[in-house]
Amino acid sequence: MDRTLRGWPSFPEELPEFDTEATPATPRELFLDWLDEAGRHVLAPHAVTLSTVDADGVPDARVVILKDVDGDTWAVATSSESPKGVQLAKNPFAALTFFWPGRGRQVRLRGPVSVAAAEVSAADFTARPPASRVEAFIGRQSQVLDDPADLDRAAAEAARWVEENPGVAPETWTRYLVTPSEVEFWQASHDRRHRRLRYRRVDGSWHKERLWP
Ligand SMILES: Cc1cc2nc3c(=O)[nH]c(=O)nc-3n(C[C@H](O)[C@H](O)[C@H](O)COP(=O)(O)O)c2cc1C
Repeated sequence: MDRTLRGWPSFPEELPEFDTEATPATPRELFLDWLDEAGRHVLAPHAVTLSTVDADGVPDARVVILKDVDGDTWAVATSSESPKGVQLAKNPFAALTFFWPGRGRQVRLRGPVSVAAAEVSAADFTARPPASRVEAFIGRQSQVLDDPADLDRAAAEAARWVEENPGVAPETWTRYLVTPSEVEFWQASHDRRHRRLRYRRVDGSWHKERLWP
């Protein structure tokens, strides 16, 4: 087992350059550059690990889809009644971690989380494909499913409701906005001197600093 794990490469042979001296003033600009670049090479570059903390202070994490980067906020969406929604209501801070394996790149953000205006969350919901709207309407995310037939019944009911009420979003569907206080860009390097650049918000402006690998 140990031999197998050690045998797998972590990074591709060819890695992109990362000149930390030639970077934009804001992490948003660099993030969008890296996201576009990843999108040319990686499946689901917009999939991101969202980490939250539960009421006992225990970390939790799961993958979600990035919905938007608007100004200084990174947006994701889920139900306010899901475990992550409940955790964010209690402790409105999160980390987002992108990993683009084919590029040897990681981006880490952390900071406070707010809830988008109700009409923004509703628009997020109505823009979802029909099957995703039904899925969101079913609700009860992460509750124990004792009988799969219960899910079939709930899905049929949700599908009917969505069809009869186009444009209506469940009140629980929520866009969460992460406003990072720091954003770190990490580029693997075969010489093991991985390039790391952190943007830190200081008095409302972004301050850049290199980090030891
Ligand atoms: C690629 C991928 C994308 C996902 N996107 C979302 C998403 O945008 N919103 C969401 O609620 N769950 C999404 N999920 C499911 C979550 O990872 C998770 O299973 C679910 O939200 C329940 O999480 P919770 O119990 O921590 O609330 C996605 C899973 C994967 C693998």
